[in-house]
Amino acid sequence: MEIKVGKREEADLVIVPCWEEGGLAYETPDLLEATALPLKLGDFKGKADEIALLYGEGPEKRVLLLGLGKKEKLTRDQIQKAYATALQRARGLKAQAINVFFPHEKTFLVDAVEALLLANESFHSLKGTEKPTPLIQKFNFPTATHADAEKFREVQQIVEGVHLARELTNQSSEVLTPEELGQCAKAIAKEYPKVKATVFLKEKIQKEGMGLLLAVNRSSKRDPAFIILEYKGAPDSDEHTVLVGKGITFDTGGLSLKPTDGMLAMRSDKGAAAAVLATVKVAAALKLRVNVTAVVPSTENCLGGESYRPGDVYKSYLGKTVHVTNTDAEGRLVLADALAYAAKNLKPTRIIDLATLTGAIVVALGEDTAAVMSDDEGLVKKLIKSGERTSDHLWRMPLIAAYRKELDSELADLKNCSGRSAGAIIAALFLREFVPEEIPWAHLDIAGSCLISKETSLAPHKSTGYGVRLLVDFLRS
Ligand code: BES
Ligand code: MN
Ligand code: ZN
Repeated sequence: MEIKVGKREEADLVIVPCWEEGGLAYETPDLLEATALPLKLGDFKGKADEIALLYGEGPEKRVLLLGLGKKEKLTRDQIQKAYATALQRARGLKAQAINVFFPHEKTFLVDAVEALLLANESFHSLKGTEKPTPLIQKFNFPTATHADAEKFREVQQIVEGVHLARELTNQSSEVLTPEELGQCAKAIAKEYPKVKATVFLKEKIQKEGMGLLLAVNRSSKRDPAFIILEYKGAPDSDEHTVLVGKGITFDTGGLSLKPTDGMLAMRSDKGAAAAVLATVKVAAALKLRVNVTAVVPSTENCLGGESYRPGDVYKSYLGKTVHVTNTDAEGRLVLADALAYAAKNLKPTRIIDLATLTGAIVVALGEDTAAVMSDDEGLVKKLIKSGERTSDHLWRMPLIAAYRKELDSELADLKNCSGRSAGAIIAALFLREFVPEEIPWAHLDIAGSCLISKETSLAPHKSTGYGVRLLVDFLRS
């Protein structure tokens, strides 16, 4: 894919933005002429995301008139939606090269470009007979400068990370096994000299005593993997952010079996792992001056004769024993071992974990917004700010200490699950038991926002790559 700036070229299509009741947002004589009639007749009003396809005499074969809505009401989210919608239309027309105009004032310029690139997502279609929609190969931004192009290249790196996370999230569990996820980490390390990948396989995981990860793995035919992907961009600094991501390659629920509907999208239970691995890749690609490590405990949560059972007790990496009362609350188990391992061995100055952890958070916040839970006010504020800047929205949920007693067990140090009430908070309280108090820690429950139920122009294959833009912004700030 190629990005060019500065001049208009021969192309298959040109995108021309237009305000509602305000005429073209960028005016050139030939485009004014080409678009005059539909505007005059009122056939095209410039409403948000409205599109009209015209045919003119310019250097492009097609003119795509794009409505941005009222000028004074324009937001980042609106401009992104509009340009992504236009891009999907261009792809539908099999355009290869497009010229794109932006509003004269250049408001939200970088955001519009981000939307175009996000929407230009390839997908390994499993349809045997239907060809996937081709990608746009050449973007040409006539009104952008070379200074703008610098920013576009950064955005391109970030979007590539988002696309990687989307692809890993959406990939079939049959293909993307725990060991294969480890191979992905190794491939990233191979690409960047400052990145190192370490993958523990079953034997090493046993030696380390990660009893909870092993318990979840028991009935799986596929071995677990414990993945550590480090990027050292600031070798002289002690600052070190550890990102822990839940890597359940498929979640059947185990003996506490999920109903079919609840299991249908559970290939995405590795979405958080995908996001933290992709974030490290982007940090390296952008040469950020930070130290960041992704830690991914990975296994399938299967069902079989060797399954771990409700009522069983297992010893965690930290030493605390856990009474398993529901085998479908497997995410917190594998995360507990990863959090304790990271705290003990990686010298983190902060730990942020991401997980598609609870259905309860989907009920509470839906698919647009993920939850952040933490006792660290500063960390919460920074994360929410990054969410606002990147549209990976976050909403804080409280860690209500009084609920901790719900996890008391008569058999062990704690149980992994209580009733239905405050499900997302209880899950976070469980995780907190495995992070030493002195390490700033935040937990993000991304169960709703990782794989959405209906495709959008910005996320055309439902997988959103949630977290990559958020975490990259967080690391930079
Ligand atoms: N992976 C699921 C959570 C999930 C639900 C992710 C919907 C994405 C969409 C998790 O492992 C799970 O099963 N959680 C249980 C916890 C319960 C047993 C306490 C849940 O939410 O039902
Ligand atoms: Mn589960
Ligand atoms: Zn799960």
